[in-house]
Amino acid sequence: MDKLIIRGGRKLSGEVSVSGSKNAALPIFCATILAPGLHEISNVPFLRDINTTIKVLESLGAVVEGNGHVVRIDATNVNNVEATYDLVKTMRASVLVLGPLLARHGRARVSLPGGCAIGARPIDQHLKGLKALGAEINLTHGYVEAKARQLKGARINFDMPTVGGTEHLMMAASLAKGETVLENAAREPEIVDLASMLIQMGARIEGAGTDTIRIQGVSELSPVSYRVMPDRIEAGTFMIAAAITAGDIRIANMQLEHLDALVFKLQDAGVDIINKEGVVRVKGPKKIRSMNIKTRPYPGFPTDMQAQFMALMTVADGASVIAENIFENRFMHVSELLRFGADITVEGNSATVKGVKKLSGAPVMATDLRASACLILAGLAAEGETEVSRIYHLDRGYESIEKKLAGLGADIVRVKE
Ligand code: EPZ
Repeated sequence: MDKLIIRGGRKLSGEVSVSGSKNAALPIFCATILAPGLHEISNVPFLRDINTTIKVLESLGAVVEGNGHVVRIDATNVNNVEATYDLVKTMRASVLVLGPLLARHGRARVSLPGGCAIGARPIDQHLKGLKALGAEINLTHGYVEAKARQLKGARINFDMPTVGGTEHLMMAASLAKGETVLENAAREPEIVDLASMLIQMGARIEGAGTDTIRIQGVSELSPVSYRVMPDRIEAGTFMIAAAITAGDIRIANMQLEHLDALVFKLQDAGVDIINKEGVVRVKGPKKIRSMNIKTRPYPGFPTDMQAQFMALMTVADGASVIAENIFENRFMHVSELLRFGADITVEGNSATVKGVKKLSGAPVMATDLRASACLILAGLAAEGETEVSRIYHLDRGYESIEKKLAGLGADIVRVKE
């Protein structure tokens, strides 16, 4: 297994370019099942999760060429309707093939994804929605078995805004008979990206990005060429890298408007953020002001930026309170941050961070994707050497982050453990 060695204390500078969005690309790949023929997806990041999704699509009969930047997916022979446990367990989002298989073939057998480090991650809302569209759903031996001769449009009201649930039902409803209305839908930009690809395929969708999405089912969809949106969480991670090192960097290929909640918090904390013709300049202050945050569904503060923001608050000028309202177990980075000398106490879903003068480098262990990024950020600011192990978590969602950070002047190398 690989690990990262970081020597902290350098101010980052220079320009970095953001890759395509993992959380947009994954559902977009699943949507190709809906239309036989050759799809060309571009701006695809080179990530482990993309490779896993490609393996799932190939196991269903798709022919896939490439695994990053441009990926060609021929969905003509997607005739196997079973996605097995060994693939789905490595990447939960692959459960999103269920709805497209059901819509195209009238049946599907997909392993229940199971939980992950940050929470139980149930899919009850996905299944409730598919049942509302007329699917017969049985859970046997850890698999979801679904049948529906023809999905029919329905009104679906989600118990909570769920990103995957909204994406799943938007895909299935695209080929249902009649109108589907998704109420209390999630509003994330990745949902809007998926919707614009589906619309290009011939789907009739209105309201993506709002809490009510209307889908008029059509009888068939066509394959498309589609460019994935930039990864807003990767972009946000680099913004915090500049802030925590009092650096001055430029970030290219990002859409600042996708990160309003983070931007306002960083600006209140004293970070200068200037958007000039699509390149965003981020200048960190000498001392960061402490800020309270509460994670919320979009457009609220993104849960995927909570760990990274906590790293920043460990060296802020006062105390900050961080509330994690989306996932039940997303503070695993706290115990690792304490090893840097951070001062954090956790009470339920809220962490109180008291800023310290300096962090000191230490050997730490990544526990999940965004926690890995948080530990790297702390290492960039810490005095001395930091070793981050188990970075296979990191490779799921960041494309060559150590190379990109080194390009900004960080002293960071990847070594074989
Ligand atoms: C997506 O996960 C993202 N993953 C996550 O990013 C992100 O943290 C999350 O949305 C929230 O923004 C991808 O897009 C691949 P949810 P998803 O359904 O769809 C509960 C990362 O680091 N819920 O919006 O699984 C659920 O338990 C990853 O890139 C149900 O109870 O998230 C959670 O508390 C981590 N029943 C809340 O809703 C359901 O049927 C939000 O989950 C579905 C969800």
